[in-house]
Amino acid sequence: MTHPLDPLSTAEAQRACDILKASGKLGPRARFPVVQLAEPDKARVLAGQPCPREAFAMVLDRANGDTFEALVNLDTSEVTDWKKLPLDQAPYGQAPIMIEEFFACERIVKADAGWQAALKRRGVTEAEFAHVQVDPFSAGYFGEPEFQGKRLLRATSFLRSSRTDNGYAHPIEGLVAVVDLIAERVVELVDDGRDTPIPRRNHPYDTASLGTPRETLKPLTISQPKGPSFSVDGWAVAWENWRFRIGFTPREGLVLHQLGWQQGETLRPIMYRASVTEMCVPYADPNHSHYWKSAFDAGEYGLGKLANQLELGCDCLGLIRYFDVPAVDDEGNAFVMKNAVCMHEEDYGTLWKHYEFRTGVFEVRRSRRLVISFFATVGNYDYGFYWYLYLDGTIQLEAKLTGIIQTTGVVPGAPYPWGGMVAEGLGGPTHQHFFNARLHMEVDGQGNSVTEHEFVPRPMGPDNPYGNVFDTTSRVLKTEQEAARELDGRTGRFWKVVNPNKRNAVGNHPGYKLVGMPSPLMLAAEGSTVRQRGAFATKHLWVTAYDPAHKYASGDYPNQHEGGAGLPAFIADNKGIENGDLVLWHSFGHTHVCKPEDFPVMPVEYAGFSLKPNNFFAANPAMDLPGGKDAHSVQDGASCCAPDTPSCCS
Ligand code: CO
Repeated sequence: MTHPLDPLSTAEAQRACDILKASGKLGPRARFPVVQLAEPDKARVLAGQPCPREAFAMVLDRANGDTFEALVNLDTSEVTDWKKLPLDQAPYGQAPIMIEEFFACERIVKADAGWQAALKRRGVTEAEFAHVQVDPFSAGYFGEPEFQGKRLLRATSFLRSSRTDNGYAHPIEGLVAVVDLIAERVVELVDDGRDTPIPRRNHPYDTASLGTPRETLKPLTISQPKGPSFSVDGWAVAWENWRFRIGFTPREGLVLHQLGWQQGETLRPIMYRASVTEMCVPYADPNHSHYWKSAFDAGEYGLGKLANQLELGCDCLGLIRYFDVPAVDDEGNAFVMKNAVCMHEEDYGTLWKHYEFRTGVFEVRRSRRLVISFFATVGNYDYGFYWYLYLDGTIQLEAKLTGIIQTTGVVPGAPYPWGGMVAEGLGGPTHQHFFNARLHMEVDGQGNSVTEHEFVPRPMGPDNPYGNVFDTTSRVLKTEQEAARELDGRTGRFWKVVNPNKRNAVGNHPGYKLVGMPSPLMLAAEGSTVRQRGAFATKHLWVTAYDPAHKYASGDYPNQHEGGAGLPAFIADNKGIENGDLVLWHSFGHTHVCKPEDFPVMPVEYAGFSLKPNNFFAANPAMDLPGGKDAHSVQDGASCCAPDTPSCCS
């Protein structure tokens, strides 16, 4: 039985492509950068009404660059909508870069006589060309008249010493090939003439090259002899009080649908849909090889398209449930991404504890979380997206940033003013990573408001004679533009999504609090194109009245877009957001100044946020967890510690 929010099955995805191919609308070089479920009308889903199964497809003709959006009704096998996008006109934009274009880019660049000559001048022999790695970097937008409306990549090159060598240790500095993917040629070769030497020292990370690993770590085994505590029915998951559905799209990767908390007979909704719709990485080096680097990894490449198939294993311990995800390749053939989503339970230390020294009452309960995750590799970087659900009602998203930094060659001994040195002759340009999570809220049902709170000191006076009082302010954010906000750690500013139509036992509106981490904003200057294109990263919070067309923080086609799309456009009409159907958009990230510890592969850096219940429960919802030396962590009643040292269990 298919649920309306289930991702397209492999058969449905194939049928959507076949219907389009048979429609007579496609040219011989038609490609399919995106094929996914066209999500049905929310009202119909909530009312339990039948919903048509529809596929949304983006079709790109590699012969001429024409790009179309299509809607295919899978119930009637009809193409119900087909429109050509005006991508050759302002504000431009392109379909995401496809995997076959990664390879085409390398082929085109390596065949270019100018590129070959530039490499030879840098001492690279023709025999070494086979080992040169060409990175297909999204081109950005800089208004060059000769490039407008063209489908471009900017390619940088790295000289591997062998097939499995780490290319990023050997950047071929100062050389950028601008590739026209439709004309299939290099349309501009930028060679800045600095002739920076190619760093030749290897910095491998593959097991074969790393030598003998340390042998000091003893095995650490997670055992769940009675199996996991979750159950799965198709794409629906139940774990303790949590209920939700898993979804997956080419752009966002993992999506959580209809996340709610089962309380007795009642399923209390919290979020209708949650995903990361964009991430953007602007670089802060003004040289020709770098100034244009500003990858929008979701909208320009596709986090779902580049998801790792975790057949080779992942970093999760315990009993793991993988989800295979149906997908479509560039040519419109459906296939299965094996093990693209990983789910498991994780022990998380102490959830609550108290020791009453007078009575000897000692109670402690362990925290456990459900982890739903996937990893995407976008060129040099690898990003993990981990949703955590906790027994106390907390929801958390953690982005894990790892992989290899972008590198630059530096003349040995010379300063590198635009970033940090990571090895001899090798620098890493300073950059920022920005994510945006789109959270379509429905806290305790329909009709939500967002409130803003700050802590402010109260002057001493008759109502504060000892000076110890401070206040928590509270105001409702009434319009979209009023709700474009920044975090402020000094005042502890925070936001809650509340349901003003409901009250809890103490008279308050049930809510969820957005707990942000200290997080940067876009540092690129006013007037820069990346600031326009990544405007979502100029505020930590945006709130919009739900509009099904408003899907992505950076807009539908950020690749080579001139900017202004996405959130700034969504709030232009400044709709009211009080007691409405709301989408919360949270930007968060990390400013990365490179250092030797980031190389050759960077230890995971974390960025993310939590949503914490606030007046949602009548009390701590985890008071009913079993206590003592229970099956939570110990089998068969075995003791985890000496009887006189109870605290060692926590
Ligand atoms: Co970084």
